[in-house]
Amino acid sequence: MEIDPVNFYKLNARCCVVVSTASPRGISNAAPFSFNTPISFSPPIFAIACNPGHDTWRNIQATKEFVINFVGEELGEKMHILEKDFPYEVSEISEAGLTEMPSKKVKAPRIAEAYAWLECKLYDAKELGDHVLIAGEVLLAEVRDEYYDRVINVAKAKPLLHISGPYFGIPLAKKFKRA
Ligand SMILES: Cc1cc2nc3c(=O)[nH]c(=O)nc-3n(C[C@H](O)[C@H](O)[C@H](O)COP(=O)(O)O)c2cc1C
Repeated sequence: MEIDPVNFYKLNARCCVVVSTASPRGISNAAPFSFNTPISFSPPIFAIACNPGHDTWRNIQATKEFVINFVGEELGEKMHILEKDFPYEVSEISEAGLTEMPSKKVKAPRIAEAYAWLECKLYDAKELGDHVLIAGEVLLAEVRDEYYDRVINVAKAKPLLHISGPYFGIPLAKKFKRA
């Protein structure tokens, strides 16, 4: 069946990551992003597409840094707390009951409950359509040992797939309650 092209992304079940940043004063911020992808091996570059009004973009413009946190299905319910529009400099990480931990190469924090992290430095950004494509050079990539066996152990990590709004891919389509 054909669907309206404005709904194209609903055909693409995507891994949902949480992007953490810090304000120039060091207050953390986090938001779920399912528009995300690797785009270069050398240099290693990972990109997200961000609504230009988001605090994530505001912090990245100010600090040039961000962290990609890879999360599993068990954190699915948290996505609707993290996506809430809290005032600037209210940390969604603590609001969601998640734990901040220091990164190794950037000031933006990691989320401890994630199974893997990419610490990124802003490489380039470009407005495309109604989003900003934010490309980050990966300075450090780390995965919890128990989730890695030459490649990511998908059966164990259970990456959280996002489809649209409250629709996630668990195991076919689960609708999480909005917080
Ligand atoms: C599962 C999920 C995926 C999302 N993916 C994106 C995305 O890829 N790009 C985007 O701009 N917003 C996305 N959002 C919405 C933002 O996470 C949300 O608007 C958030 O409040 C932005 O936070 P910030 O203002 O602290 O940056 C998503 C929300 C959810 C629940």
